[in-house]
Amino acid sequence: MKLMQARLKTISKQATDTAKNGESARLADEFAQITEATKALIPGEVDRLPASEREIRKDLYESMMDDSANLGLKLAEAFRINDNTKAADLLKRLLKAKKDGHAEFK
Ligand code: HEM
Repeated sequence: MKLMQARLKTISKQATDTAKNGESARLADEFAQITEATKALIPGEVDRLPASEREIRKDLYESMMDDSANLGLKLAEAFRINDNTKAADLLKRLLKAKKDGHAEFK
């Protein structure tokens, strides 16, 4: 997740700099790929739950990671079409997804 964080930080810093939209789009694509890979890293706490609860929590963890990866893909697309207003909104939604994910699982 440090790799996700690093990309979001750079994107946030340059999100209004339209000259960097190409680079931001590439970073957002990387963010989405890393997030998709992170989905496989089920938190230990979830793994240690009784089987019945484990499936429910695992599904929630995976769907929240999927949501974040999808927001990353949409973010890349917004930069590619030079819609920086949309990019700013998607960035906000990603920060909320992070906050929600950490409140639930960290
Ligand atoms: C969307 C952007 C997100 C960013 C930038 C982010 C970033 C981070 C960072 C920097 C850490 C601490 C360092 C590390 O353990 O690698 C962390 C830990 C963690 N995050 Fe996220 N996160 C995000 C989303 C999520 C989501 C959606 C979930 C859950 C569905 C989640 C669950 C966790 C958990 C469980 C830990 C603790 C890992 C451990 O201690 O081994 N994160 N995250």
